[in-house]
Amino acid sequence: MPKTLIEPFRIKSIEPIRMTTRADRERLLAEAKLNVFKLHAEDVLIDWLTDSGTGAMSSRQWGAIMEGDESYAGARSFYRLQAVIEDITGMKHFIPTHQGRAAEKVLFTAVCQRGDLVPNNCHFDTTRANLEYLGVDARDLVIAEGLQPALIHPFKGNIDLAKAEALLKAEGHRIPFGMLTVTNNTGGGQPVSMANIRAYAALLKAHGKPFIMDVCRFAENAMFIKLREPGYENTSVRDIAKEMFSHADGATMSAKKDAMVNIGGFIVLRSDDWMDAARNVLIMTEGFPTYGGLAGRDLEAMAVGLEEGLQEDYLRYRLRTAEYLGERLDEAGIGFVKPTGGHAVYIDARTVLPGMPVAHYPAWALCNALYLEGGIRGVEIGSVMFGKRLDDGTETFHTMELVRLAFPRRMYTQSHFDYAAEVIAEVKQKASAIRGVRITKQPKFLRHFTCECDWVG
Ligand code: F0G
Repeated sequence: MPKTLIEPFRIKSIEPIRMTTRADRERLLAEAKLNVFKLHAEDVLIDWLTDSGTGAMSSRQWGAIMEGDESYAGARSFYRLQAVIEDITGMKHFIPTHQGRAAEKVLFTAVCQRGDLVPNNCHFDTTRANLEYLGVDARDLVIAEGLQPALIHPFKGNIDLAKAEALLKAEGHRIPFGMLTVTNNTGGGQPVSMANIRAYAALLKAHGKPFIMDVCRFAENAMFIKLREPGYENTSVRDIAKEMFSHADGATMSAKKDAMVNIGGFIVLRSDDWMDAARNVLIMTEGFPTYGGLAGRDLEAMAVGLEEGLQEDYLRYRLRTAEYLGERLDEAGIGFVKPTGGHAVYIDARTVLPGMPVAHYPAWALCNALYLEGGIRGVEIGSVMFGKRLDDGTETFHTMELVRLAFPRRMYTQSHFDYAAEVIAEVKQKASAIRGVRITKQPKFLRHFTCECDWVG
């Protein structure tokens, strides 16, 4: 058998990417105030800002789009998608939403009270924000291994069961349900094992608490279980996914990830308990329960995408792609969160810019350098995103300085990854010439999206 794992698809429709020169990029980045979020996407050569809603749909999905039933109530497209979702999740109640954060908002608004507490391995930003907005304490309980970038562990997304149990005992009266995010995006796209899912579900059940999974990347998680968890080698990814869902009482989903669509999301629930409350919030904020803020055609594309996202050839190639880039980075002596996750590689900027003071934002500086060197756009996950300027002008800094390169599904080929590896290695060679930044203008919250910067030195 040849060793090369090929992209398991052919390209039928292409989108040209615009080449730029370094001089162009210097001008464009200066115009964007040294903030890659402010660049026009067409000035980016390889856009690895996010894997969310940015992937390529298949010809079957585009075909399904023409079959969208745009009826306001009871559209055929709703029932078609419901059947696919019920088969995979085993849950009878399905509510479409326009994306993942809407699913969170609808469910949490329906069932949480001010003063509640929700445990999770790690809450994604929007999950945390939606809970905190309602006065709910969002508690991260990922295992200690999950917080050490260089440490290799097969399931760094696992929740710490001892900590979860202690919390359920001490604060059980405040906990409306327990959550688990698969894969754990905030922790590096790391998977959760079936053993951990099973044990956490049993723990919650023993305390009478429902179990809600955030399943944006459930198919990638299921593939990791197949590849890494003894006993699952010969189980199909679809059956593994079904088993994952069988332990849960409900789930929130951003279909922009493993359902392979550009927009969409949903809630599923096993029991009737929360349905009426959730539907009422949905009708107020998203739309009628059989379309939930989406067009019928979006529901059709999602029904096909959910099936395609579970195909094993695709998932094998998908996880291998991230691993391949990791190997190239290892060869260049560049540190990253190990092992590589499902959807992204998180570069440890401190291994590229070891001498740069944190006050000059090394991960932000690396992000800028990747754009200038090769037109690559990633996201800083460091002290611009998680640090704060206090009223007295001093700053707090984040513990890690990472750059996330997140891969849109079915979009980039191996040569794009080879090119990126070369660019990153080149940036490391020239590290002594890379300048840090200072922030010249910033909003009070979520400053990374809109802040303006200037070079230091
Ligand atoms: N949960 C997780 C684990 C996510 O990664 C995301 C989105 C959401 C919920 C929210 O879903 O965007 O459809 O509203 N993550 C994207 C990212 C934005 O870039 O990681 P959404």
